[in-house]
Amino acid sequence: MLDIPATISARHAAEPPARAPSLDEQRAAWRKAFARVRAETEARAAHLSVEDQIVQSMPDASPTKWHRAHVTWFFEQFLLVPYAPGYEIFDARFPFLFNSYYVAAGPRHARPQRGLITRPNGADVAAYRRHVDAAVERLIDTVPAANAPRVFEILEIGLHHEQQHQELLLTDILHAFAQNPTDPVYDAGWRAPPPAQGPRRFVDVPAGIHAVGQDGASFCFDNETPRHDELIGKLRIARQLVSNGEWLEFIAAGGYTTPSLWLSDGWASVQAEGWQSPGYWRKIDGGWHAMTLAGLKPVDPAAPVTHVSYYEADAFVRFAGKHLPSEAEWEVAARAGLLADAFGMVWQWTRSAYLPYPGYRAADGALGEYNGKFMVNQMVLRGSSFATPQGHARASYRNFFYPAARWQFSGLRLVEFV
Ligand SMILES: [Fe+2]
Repeated sequence: MLDIPATISARHAAEPPARAPSLDEQRAAWRKAFARVRAETEARAAHLSVEDQIVQSMPDASPTKWHRAHVTWFFEQFLLVPYAPGYEIFDARFPFLFNSYYVAAGPRHARPQRGLITRPNGADVAAYRRHVDAAVERLIDTVPAANAPRVFEILEIGLHHEQQHQELLLTDILHAFAQNPTDPVYDAGWRAPPPAQGPRRFVDVPAGIHAVGQDGASFCFDNETPRHDELIGKLRIARQLVSNGEWLEFIAAGGYTTPSLWLSDGWASVQAEGWQSPGYWRKIDGGWHAMTLAGLKPVDPAAPVTHVSYYEADAFVRFAGKHLPSEAEWEVAARAGLLADAFGMVWQWTRSAYLPYPGYRAADGALGEYNGKFMVNQMVLRGSSFATPQGHARASYRNFFYPAARWQFSGLRLVEFV
């Protein structure tokens, strides 16, 4: 976890803390949290060469060097410039290069061309990180009491933002490595976590009216609010994730060559992309293999399927005679402890479009662009993956991607209605 000081998380807390920590205690906790998250980014990048860190294999995937700089720009732009007296921008060219999509924060470089930026080089980005690290640490230590709540609130958003990019750093480099005929290895020691054991079965989800959304237990993004009621009908949810073995049955039964299983847009993607299997799968000497963070490995039938798009998930559930859960059904089941591998394995597609919760309004200003402006044309995924950093997952978390995307660690679980 992020070790968030109680007064900060208390703005969501149902129960007030027994004793509010002093400002000095808050400073110490934030220093620790900041150092840990920043170090995790560098630890993930440390497996990669300078050349690895430049490559951009498709417009949706960013270079590692860009991720390292962009998360740093986020702290500079939203925390240091407004709140650190006398702060000097590290390099006046960087905001243009490393702003992602914040229109209110100024003009920015074209996303598909991030891989063309060989300069500033890796050492320049490392110096940028050190410069901003020192300034943020100074701000944590010196921010006056009156500004502390807002400063710590933005710092907290910046840390969760950096954690999101830590996962993207892995999904993006895996996509790049999958284009390389030499099958590069990110980390030879990496192993997928073993899936939960136990009988594969469906369990009843408690029907009725349930509150969903942020529950006050921890930090949340604005798209997890407001908490609101959802009506859950009678249904049963699979305790386990759909496995590679089940996906092999789908392939063998002609799943990728049967138009009636597919949404129209999904079938168009099958045709245009030539999909015959999940992302990164290859048949070698008659056996399926897949590119992983540990390189090319045989597909394990017992492991959860991953790198499938929403379109593939939708076709699979039609083939199986089942359905995808809505995001509310998923959240109620997760909170009831009904799901094996809800977190830390693969993100799970839901049949829910990514829409604002009732009464949601994005905040004013550039930070209001974080989530709200993407609430159309994408689908929600729930849970978390093995690439999600420690402490970043929660039951109310709403991930979202376009329905054709499959470079994330995305899988699915089934529901049936009774
Ligand atoms: Fe970002």
